[in-house]
Amino acid sequence: MNNNMKTIDPKQVSVAEFHGYLLGAVAPRPIALASTVDQNGRVNLSPFSFFNAFSANPPLLIFSPARRVRDNTTKHTLENVLETNEVVINIVSYAMVEQMSLASTEYEEGVNEFIKSGFTEVPSEKVTPPRVKEAPAAFECKVQQVISLGDEGGAGNLIICEVILAHISTKILDQNGKISPHLLDAVGRLGGNWYTRAGGDSLFEVEKPLRSKGIGVDQLPSAIKNSTILTGNDLGKLANVEQIPSIDSTEVDEIIKSHNLVSRDQFHFLAQQYLRNGQTEIAWKILLQENV
Ligand SMILES: Cc1cc2nc3c(=O)[nH]c(=O)nc-3n(C[C@H](O)[C@H](O)[C@H](O)COP(=O)(O)O)c2cc1C
Repeated sequence: MNNNMKTIDPKQVSVAEFHGYLLGAVAPRPIALASTVDQNGRVNLSPFSFFNAFSANPPLLIFSPARRVRDNTTKHTLENVLETNEVVINIVSYAMVEQMSLASTEYEEGVNEFIKSGFTEVPSEKVTPPRVKEAPAAFECKVQQVISLGDEGGAGNLIICEVILAHISTKILDQNGKISPHLLDAVGRLGGNWYTRAGGDSLFEVEKPLRSKGIGVDQLPSAIKNSTILTGNDLGKLANVEQIPSIDSTEVDEIIKSHNLVSRDQFHFLAQQYLRNGQTEIAWKILLQENV
C-alpha cells in the first residue's frame, strides 16, 4: 500500500482475482443483449457487458465473449458468430434486467434463451438472428472481424460488428426526435452482482468545454485554486470560461450584502451554491469580490 492505493501486478494474482478488479473498476458498463444463430438456425440470446460503440462511420459496435476462466471453454455466442457472421445487439432497459440476467444462464447448446427468458422474438430485416421486441433499441449487424485476444481462460474475443440497420423505439424519443436518457431508462453493469439504473437523480448534464477554450485550472487565482471549500468539480466549472469576468456588478454587491459575508470561506460557500445552480458568472463575481 502506498498513498492509500493498492498496487497490483496482474501477473502476481490469479486471473479470477484480477478479473474482479477489472469488472469492479471499469464500471458501469453498458450491456449488449446479443442474439445469434448457429449454422442450423438455432437461436441464442446472451448478455455481454464488455461492450461499447467505437465508430460512427462506419458504425461499429464491439463486444467480447471471453473464454471461461474456470475451464477455458468458449461461449455459444462466439461459436455462432464464427459460423454465421451475424448478430443483433439489443439494448437493455431497467424493465428488462431480470429477464436479461436469466438469459445469461449457461443453458446447453441449442437452447433458445428467448424462450427461457420470456423475451419476444421479432424477425430481423437484414440478418437471420431475431431481435428482442422488448428492447428500446436493436442493431442488426454483420460481423466485420473477430479478434481472439488469447488462448487461455479469461481471454476475450473482440467481435467487431458493423451496424447495417437500427431499430429505435419511438417511446424513447423526445419531441425533437432525439433519444431521451429519461425515457431510455438504461442499466449498466458493475462488479459482483451490482447494476445501476440511469434515471432520476443519477442523470445530470455537464456542459461541453468551450470551443474557444476555457482558461484552465492552472490560470485560476491562487485563492480560488487552493480553496479548502471549492471542489475539483467547482474548479473545473470556473476554469471553463474564456476569460476571468470583470468584477463590477451591483447585482453581486447586493447578493454579498444580503448574505453578510465576512470570511473567505463564506464567499467560497456562496459561490459554490451559485456554481451548483449553473450560475458560473455570478459565482466568479462573488469570488472576485472577496479579493477586493
Ligand atoms: C450483465 C451481464 C454481462 C455479461 N458480460 C459478459 C461479457 O462481457 N463477456 C462474457 O464472456 N460473458 C459475459 N457474461 C456472461 C455470459 O452472458 C454467459 O456466460 C452466457 O451464458 C454466455 O452464453 P452463451 O454460451 O449462450 O453465449 C455476462 C453476464 C451478464 C448477466
